[in-house]
Amino acid sequence: MTAIEYRKVCKQFTGSRAYALQSVSASIEEGEFITILGSSGCGKTTLLKMTNRLYEPDSGEILLFGEHIGDKDPVELRRGVGYVIQQVGLFPHLTVEENIGMMPGLLKWDRERIAVRVTELLTLVGLEPERFRGRYPSQLSGGQQQRIGLALALALDPKVMLLDEPFGAIDAITRLNLQNELLRIHGGLGKTFLFVTHDINEAFKLGNRVMIMNEGRLLQFDTPKNIVQRPADPFVETLIRSAREQETFWEAVT
Ligand SMILES: Nc1ncnc2c1ncn2[C@@H]1O[C@H](COP(=O)(O)OP(=O)(O)O)[C@@H](O)[C@H]1O
Ligand SMILES: [Mg+2]
Repeated sequence: MTAIEYRKVCKQFTGSRAYALQSVSASIEEGEFITILGSSGCGKTTLLKMTNRLYEPDSGEILLFGEHIGDKDPVELRRGVGYVIQQVGLFPHLTVEENIGMMPGLLKWDRERIAVRVTELLTLVGLEPERFRGRYPSQLSGGQQQRIGLALALALDPKVMLLDEPFGAIDAITRLNLQNELLRIHGGLGKTFLFVTHDINEAFKLGNRVMIMNEGRLLQFDTPKNIVQRPADPFVETLIRSAREQETFWEAVT
């Protein structure tokens, strides 16, 4: 089943000459882990924010499981689409349990059901429920906060998860741990993940397919192997060459 389909999606922000997105078309199957790779300003966040209608396209269409998202109530739509960003935005005066239970609470789940769900989610994201449920965000490390952000986004069991550079502000070692955890979580859930990053290693490690973007265009959308073996564009070639140069450095010093 096709989870997300972009059909010639275009966006130009008012006052800007360049297109933020220029006729982006792509089709994503249910259960895929897609990474979106590109330099700052190339349109990654814009594409993600259109997928849960934080932005509207100027033209083109976006379908979620075969349905036009433009026809859906945005609030309803966002309940089915988890969203994780770099600045998690946990409520500082609420505990971990209260933060994760926020959306279920608004939907009038009873207290017992919320408690059970919080236990489930904390376990899923690798935090011991009894140690962490009563903590406040200030009592968590950056990596732990990102895990809570992930738990929060998963609370209502959305079919699609949008992750916008969620590990961008995390140190290298914690980041590797979180990447592995995310792969494990994705593997166990069967959900569709869309993960934005500007780090080529992260993109190629996590994505079963990678979307490579530049200046609002989708240049190539393929498996990491196919992209490396058959770069479809000079920009992609340069990107891969630069990654290889780093690799050569590591080989030279070890
Ligand atoms: N709300 C906005 N208003 C005006 N311009 C915007 C807005 N959001 C993004 N842009 C512009 O659109 C382009 C793409 O931005 P963005 O999608 O945030 O890039 P990325 O996430 O890849 O860094 C950039 O030129 C950016 O300045
Ligand atoms: Mg961005």
